[in-house]
This record gives sequence, C-alpha cells and structure tokens, in this order.
Amino acid sequence: MAAAPSIRPLVFLGPPGAGKGTQARSVAERLGVPQISTGDMFRDHAARGTDLGRQAKAVMERGELVSDDIVVGMVAERIARPDCANGFILDGFPRTVPQAERLEALLAQSGRPSVLAVNFNLSYTNLVRRLTGRRTCVLCGEIYNIYFRPPKAEGRCDRDGGELTQRADDREEVIRERLSAYERQTQPLIDFYRQRRALLDVDAEAPPEELTRRLLALLAEEKQSAGSAA
Ligand code: AP5
Repeated sequence: MAAAPSIRPLVFLGPPGAGKGTQARSVAERLGVPQISTGDMFRDHAARGTDLGRQAKAVMERGELVSDDIVVGMVAERIARPDCANGFILDGFPRTVPQAERLEALLAQSGRPSVLAVNFNLSYTNLVRRLTGRRTCVLCGEIYNIYFRPPKAEGRCDRDGGELTQRADDREEVIRERLSAYERQTQPLIDFYRQRRALLDVDAEAPPEELTRRLLALLAEEKQSAGSAA
C-alpha cells in the first residue's frame, strides 16, 4: 500500500467547546494521520488512576491548565512515535505561548515542518450550549450533543452502543473558569501564529459535516499555495 502523503503538523486552536475535538477526529480520519488530544490523554490517565492522572484530574476539575512541563513532556513522547511520521493533528495543545515555543523547538530539532494553526471562532452563547449539551461515549470517545448532535438512542453511542457520559468539567461553574483560562493563557497564541503567517481562521458556527468539508478544502488550498510558493 502506498504511504499516506505527509502534511504539516496541524494545531486546532480555539475556546473550550468550539468543536476542535469533533473536527480533529473527522479530519484526522480523512487525512490518515493521528489526532492527539492532550485533554483525552489526561482523562485517560485519570481513568487509569496513574499519578499523572490524579494530579491532572484535580487541575481539570478546577478549570485550570496543567503545567507546561508535564504537557510538553507528554506531547514530545507522543509525536516521536512512528505513526506521527507523516503528520498529526494536535487538539488542545499548545495552549500557552511557552508550550508553542517548545513545540516549535521540538519540530525544528527533529527536522520536521513547522505547524499550521487553525483558529475556531464561535460566539460565547453557543460555546456554553455546546459544552453543557456535550456527551461522550465511554468506549470509543465519539462526541455527541443533546441539542445539536443527539444520538439515535438516548444515552447510547450510535457506533458501539457504549454509555454516553458528561465530562466533570462541563458543569457551568467550571466552564466559566475554563473560558477565563482560555482568554488569559491561550488567546495570545492567535497572534503568535498570525505573526508567523501560520494561522487559518474558520467560522465554527457551521454544522459539523459542513465544517469538515470547509476545513479539508482550506487545508488543500493552503498546501497548494505552499507548494507553488516553494
Ligand atoms: P480539553 O479536553 O482539550 O478541552 P477544551 O480545550 O476545553 O476543549 P473541549 O474538549 O471542551 O472542546 P472542543 O473544542 O474539543 O469541542 P468538542 O468538539 O468536544 O482540555 C480539558 C482540560 O485538560 C483543560 O481544561 C486543562 O485542564 C487540561 N489540558 C488539556 N490540554 C492542556 C494543555 N495543552 N495545557 C495545559 N492543560 C491542558 O465539541 C463540543 C460540543 O459541541 C460537543 O457536544 C459537540 O457534539 C458539539 N459540536 C461540535 N461541533 C459542532 C458543530 N459544528 N455544530 C454543533 N455542535 C457541535
């Protein structure tokens, strides 16, 4: 079988609930590259009761960010694996300027292309509705929404019948903290990537399938213009 063509590492950037995870899963599947969600990695550690999971769980339940050193170490190990050789999608990382600088250094040291960031834009009202309505399959991680993307059978995953649960950090008081952490610590990354001419803006209000189509078209366009500029 022919190897998948390589792509620039992608960073999906945006506030909690903007749809990064939903799009990262479908775009990664279409492009044949792994989706790497730091939030999912921490939730997996927490479910397994590891030391890292215990530390991360407490931080996540307050709506704050896990320390840069812990996150960067975890991502460095993950992107060094062979399945990332042709590209990958980072969902929820980087989230601070120091994380972005360290990612830049890691990619340069390993001779890989620099990242292309995709910024998801959504109104505050829709963010809160998306977060409070989110349900996730305990078996496969598929993401649903009781308002916008309900499962066929209430409380059960369409793919495998797994139970759908609500994330502990999707309670309203934690959501407020997460949005404030985003404004303070993550929003500066928009300028960071804009200054490097490595930012694509998307209107994240569109329905999921439509947004996936637009994203794939934008990425193809970007690849073509980067190719013709080379
Ligand atoms: P993380 O898991 O990354 O959460 P987040 O960034 O807050 O983002 P979410 O997963 O809440 O939202 P999303 O944009 O992926 O939206 P989704 O696709 O699910 O992080 C959790 C915590 O881990 C952090 O608070 C922090 O403590 C820690 N952490 C993680 N990474 C870290 C890092 N790098 N540094 C430090 N700490 C870190 O969609 C939301 C809902 O909307 C779903 O119900 C979905 O079905 C629905 N929906 C999606 N798209 C659409 C659409 N187009 N139309 C209608 N509904 C839609």
